[in-house]
Amino acid sequence: MKIFIEKNYTDLSKRVADIIESEMKEKSNLVLGLATGSTPVGTYEELIKRYKEEGLDFSKITTFNLDEYLGIPHDHVNSYHYFMEENFFKSINIDNDKINIPNGNPENVEEYCKAYDKKIENQGGIDIQILGIGENGHIAFNEPDDKLYLGTHVTDLTESTIKANSRFFDSIDDVPKKAITMGLGSIMKSKKILLLASGKNKANTIKKLLKDGVVSTHNPASLLLLHPDVTIILDEEAAEEYMK
Ligand code: GLP
Repeated sequence: MKIFIEKNYTDLSKRVADIIESEMKEKSNLVLGLATGSTPVGTYEELIKRYKEEGLDFSKITTFNLDEYLGIPHDHVNSYHYFMEENFFKSINIDNDKINIPNGNPENVEEYCKAYDKKIENQGGIDIQILGIGENGHIAFNEPDDKLYLGTHVTDLTESTIKANSRFFDSIDDVPKKAITMGLGSIMKSKKILLLASGKNKANTIKKLLKDGVVSTHNPASLLLLHPDVTIILDEEAAEEYMK
């Protein structure tokens, strides 16, 4: 496991973009696992800048997003489809056919989930997966629980996640209560994992992850510590409690 502690969010975003850029230069048809939430936005901005200023080429890459709210229209401003289009895809030269985001309104959820995992597998797996972390240690929408699912599945969001994500909605009642998410098994199959955390509100989450020395389904991010190629990129605020 590698840990980078960057001075601030800007430096964190540049570090993550550097890693992705070098992977893209090694493999032009990279399979990139993408995340939503505010943490990766700076990375997307940095990658967009490199596309515009240096011609970083996204035309051959394939992307798989981690999750989507269930039952939300894809053109809804709070859907992860909308988020990805606005924050990343519309500003780079990606081929729309190579973008994969879980469908929030599948006809047959079980079959759809299996097909999503199969599609990742058929693509040769994810080369590099970007992850944020929830304050409660959730990864994608794998919430703390007695058991965690390996594959893509539908999940109930916890009160703490609904509360944390309500900042993007008009009211807490508008936050969807269910989501479709890649499972920890699918995520752990990624060849390389980048876990990002920024800001004071993640300081205790990071301390728990890196100092407790415990792997538990009640802290889903802790399972990542078992992965052979995980890089954790923090800013100083997120690293503060861990460094004490
Ligand atoms: C959401 C997403 C996660 C993300 C988390 C943290 O719940 N499903 O993938 O990591 O929020 O978000 P933020 O980066 O805004 O703190």
